Amino acid sequence: METARPLVLGIDFGTSNSACALIDAQGALQVIPLDGAKAEMPTALFFASETHSVLFGAEAMQAYLNGTEGRLLRSLKSLMGSRLMDEYTAVGDKSIRFFDIVVLFFKELKRRCEAHVGQPLTHAMLGRPVHFVDDDTERDQLAQETLGRAATEAGFTQIAYQLEPIAAALDYEQRVAKETTALVVDIGGGTSDFTVIRLNPERSAQGDRTADILATTGVHIGGTDFDRLLDLTTVMPHLGYKHVGTGGRIVPSSVFFDLSTWHLIHQAYTRKSMHFAKELWTDYTDQALHRRLMDALEEQHGHRMLASVEAAKIACSISGDGAVVNVDFLDRSLAPTVDAANMEAALHASLAQVVQCAQDCVAAAGLQAVDAVYLTGGSSALRTLIAALRAAMPQATLVEGNRFGGVAAGLAWAGAVHPY
Ligand SMILES: Nc1ncnc2c1ncn2[C@@H]1O[C@H](COP(=O)(O)OP(=O)(O)OP(=O)(O)O)[C@@H](O)[C@H]1O
Ligand SMILES: [Mg+2]
Repeated sequence: METARPLVLGIDFGTSNSACALIDAQGALQVIPLDGAKAEMPTALFFASETHSVLFGAEAMQAYLNGTEGRLLRSLKSLMGSRLMDEYTAVGDKSIRFFDIVVLFFKELKRRCEAHVGQPLTHAMLGRPVHFVDDDTERDQLAQETLGRAATEAGFTQIAYQLEPIAAALDYEQRVAKETTALVVDIGGGTSDFTVIRLNPERSAQGDRTADILATTGVHIGGTDFDRLLDLTTVMPHLGYKHVGTGGRIVPSSVFFDLSTWHLIHQAYTRKSMHFAKELWTDYTDQALHRRLMDALEEQHGHRMLASVEAAKIACSISGDGAVVNVDFLDRSLAPTVDAANMEAALHASLAQVVQCAQDCVAAAGLQAVDAVYLTGGSSALRTLIAALRAAMPQATLVEGNRFGGVAAGLAWAGAVHPY
């Protein structure tokens, strides 16, 4: 008698959001409700100082935004492949390795999924971007190993990997009726990944699809970069970014880059950085700007400012209208706005790189054009990006897909046919 296949958990550990799915014993896709009823869960942890508890996902974001005393960690995936992964960071009166924080997150994912399916899960299909790190195969390999090690330490004993855009394609394939050559575009929080793949529902059940994958490309640009660029253009000037100070010199800018980069914000609060920032007053001619910078650092408003920028980005990308970045906690007299014009100006160069990478993928597949462009990932909702892709690929049908759960679903399909 054939033994039942073990359940394989597809894990999309995303820069901004994570999601999990599996194919159940009846062969049906189950996307796990990870965060309340929602499939996607913010890749965030919050270490609360007073209660010494650790919160995950939406709860973590909420606690932080409500002003609970403690430390927020977000965008951990951006540290994969970097030396920071093995460094210790202060949370409350303890210090903990970034790697161990990732392990904590994986343990929580595993616990929530097991609670949902009512049995232990040991097999994982892990998604990975085309490039964790651009132009450095050694560090890229290290990043994948780190991801696998974190899953192993969390208790998964059998691990395999699939590229995120291929997973997204496998999910899309469930909905195509005939052979289609598709460019799958996955614009997430940290990376933009592309695959040109021949989709055919009749070949869905095959484990090895290597022959159908015509090309993959990827670039390390995503929604968190857009947040940074928009923070730098809308909020940071009020703290002195690009302020022309004494002697006609521009104020040194590293503190503004740290404050507007999710995974580097904590660096701005170290004693050394705070000291450096304090001394910057001599570079400012407008001391009110410097006072605001020091307020932001002393009150540790970095994540709050960036979360407000992100909210305004999303609001503007959905409605097309300008959206105010709420920084009342810093200074009620300020009302920086994200609108179509400054968004276009701030993101133009990055979006051009993303579109170029999409075109490179089609060219690498040896094609002039594809039948369909399938969009997935949270940042694929950006109107300017959709317009740029449409202009670059006029022959293709643009399909707006499952923005958040698609990669996890595809990983589940890949896991179900993988020979562990
Ligand atoms: N409507 C929207 N318009 C623009 N951006 C959006 C919208 N909704 C979400 N985003 C952005 O999408 C990003 C998250 O997308 P997603 O969950 O696909 O990323 P991820 O899978 O976590 O990241 P990655 O795949 O790069 O590791 C965030 O940067 C978020 O700000
Ligand atoms: Mg993703």
